[in-house]
Amino acid sequence: MLRPSLTAAVLFAATFLAITSLGRPAVARAEEPKKLVPSISEIMVEAHGCRTAYIKQVRTELAKDDPDWLLVETKSRDLVRVGKLLALNTPPKGSRESWDRTTGLYVARATVLVDAAERKDKEEASLTARRITMMCASCHRDHRNW
Ligand code: HEC
Repeated sequence: MLRPSLTAAVLFAATFLAITSLGRPAVARAEEPKKLVPSISEIMVEAHGCRTAYIKQVRTELAKDDPDWLLVETKSRDLVRVGKLLALNTPPKGSRESWDRTTGLYVARATVLVDAAERKDKEEASLTARRITMMCASCHRDHRNW
């Protein structure tokens, strides 16, 4: 037999659980299926967040006398991947045609960046990295609600 205080505690907990789970639709408790394509927001936070932005890491390296070319190449490949994932999304604003064109250009420029990194071509890489950075504002103007 449980001690009275423990019994009370167990009862209390059971009641609490019963009450808090009342009124919640069953689906809310079912596990969400894993999404195959991350949302635009998730991609932006991962790839373009202020502190970790891939393109920023690339440009920091390219500003050095002796860039870490492996890092530049790796991050450029990440940008290609990110661009392809963006293309699979639907933007909150703007036409499909414009989105396809813009994400296509993003992937194309990231591919040029990978190629320049493989050849350790600093001039080409720096120019392309600048062009990609300029796409942030123009894409937001056309496809972001704020
Ligand atoms: C191909 C178009 C496109 C490009 C290029 C792009 N963005 Fe975005 N970004 C968006 C869209 C669309 C949203 C809004 C997403 C939403 O509201 O669902 C967004 C949202 C964001 C957010 C907010 C994320 C959040 O929800 O918290 C940040 C930060 C951001 N972008 C940074 C950048 C930076 C930095 C660059 C350039 C390196 C960039 N973006 C390039 C389309 C783009």
